[in-house]
Amino acid sequence: MEESWVNSAERIGADLHLELSGPGGRRAALIRALREAVRGGRLAPGTRLPPYRSLAADLGVARNTVADAYAELVAEGWLTARQGSGTRVADRVEPLRHAARRPVEAPPRARGPRHDLRQGSPDTSSFPRAAWLASYRRALQQAPSEVFGPGDPAGRRELREALTEYLARARGVRTEPDRIVICSGFAHALGLLFGGGASGVLRGPLAVEAYGLGFHRELLTAAGVRTVPLPLDEDGARVGLLGRERGVLLTPAHQFPTGGPLHASRRAAVIAWARARGTVVLEDDYDGEFRYDRRPVGALQGLDPERVIHVGSVSKSLSPALRLGWMVLPQRYVGDVLAAKGDREAWASVPDQLGLADFIVSGAYDRHVRRMRQRYRGRRDRLVAALAEHAPRVTVTGVAAGLHAVLRLPPGTERATVEAAVRQGVALDGLAGFRHPEADMEARDGLVVGYATPSEHAYGAALDALCGVLP
Ligand SMILES: Cc1ncc(COP(=O)(O)O)c(C=O)c1O
Repeated sequence: MEESWVNSAERIGADLHLELSGPGGRRAALIRALREAVRGGRLAPGTRLPPYRSLAADLGVARNTVADAYAELVAEGWLTARQGSGTRVADRVEPLRHAARRPVEAPPRARGPRHDLRQGSPDTSSFPRAAWLASYRRALQQAPSEVFGPGDPAGRRELREALTEYLARARGVRTEPDRIVICSGFAHALGLLFGGGASGVLRGPLAVEAYGLGFHRELLTAAGVRTVPLPLDEDGARVGLLGRERGVLLTPAHQFPTGGPLHASRRAAVIAWARARGTVVLEDDYDGEFRYDRRPVGALQGLDPERVIHVGSVSKSLSPALRLGWMVLPQRYVGDVLAAKGDREAWASVPDQLGLADFIVSGAYDRHVRRMRQRYRGRRDRLVAALAEHAPRVTVTGVAAGLHAVLRLPPGTERATVEAAVRQGVALDGLAGFRHPEADMEARDGLVVGYATPSEHAYGAALDALCGVLP
């Protein structure tokens, strides 16, 4: 069988890129390039070189040019040629110890906290590796070749169809595949919507919840969008205070981070506001699948698909490392969002999109979510029980859903508690870090405890350590 450069490259364990440049024609350039590759260690002693014909085809030079170059290097002692075993790099050649050839030293690993109770991560040790691999394999086996070319910025249709059905069933989202644009998660969605500054799809000022993810506020500020804090109470964001903002960003199913759902009357009110203002609600449905106690709180989008941009991702349900998310858009924004994405998919891996489509359609996603829901519910119950026993001064809230809880603390004790936790090797966040700098509401003392973050075996010790530092 004809041996190709790729096959040879596989055998030598490295893809060899030869650049033919410099004075003296192709033959001289090839001799220089091969000599450099041997001298620099890119071609190790004993490595078999590709046959003349395949290297010639690969480099676009005549076969004789390659044959002459090999002969010259054999004469110089860099290569050896033996009947039946082809041309190889001579054994006695000591490659230069080039800095770039040394095994890359891993940077020293930052020592993590002993007990990680920060919010923001699912239990990474529970990633469904086998089921994901099965989906990925099936998806790649069935994929047409075009999948490996530039991707459609809307995202693969298979995934948009799967999401249309899944989001309707699990979240009450009303849409169709042509209104879904695949993105790499909520942060990316913000960039697509507001990234164009004054000519962006949406413009500020944007109302946001007075407690929310600082990272998202920072993204908006960096995009030139002013954020206006909306105070919260036990019914969620006080949307009655909305005024002349150009839109509002909410976490209606599970206010982030304080925990409650947006009250039904406020859901209706915010839609009415968006209609009257001719604007839109941006719905961050970051952990909508994980509801434990009551009936699922459906997506706000279901109330008015033309007034809500619904954004979700697999960051909580599967892994934030996959960088896969979706935007469910009112019809009038689809064209602008696609224009913001550009001519081809530049963020969300297309094979991964197909893997996720299979994962959803095959039922593996539902099975995984159900399994994790049970596991997280168990962890939440253990947290609540431990607090009741060891920290009676602490009230736990926001536990009906999600992967984190808020521990309300006696006024004035938050900072000292977070510091005490750090001293004991417990990483967690205080509520203060989530507060909008201009928030016009009473500050709340509390801790945000991510109970999904530790692996299953480490959770008990993390809970003990937490209880040890609470007032
Ligand atoms: C409030 C909130 N929204 C959205 C997300 C998801 O962000 P992304 O989809 O960019 O990973 C997170 C974190 O997982 C979050 O905490």
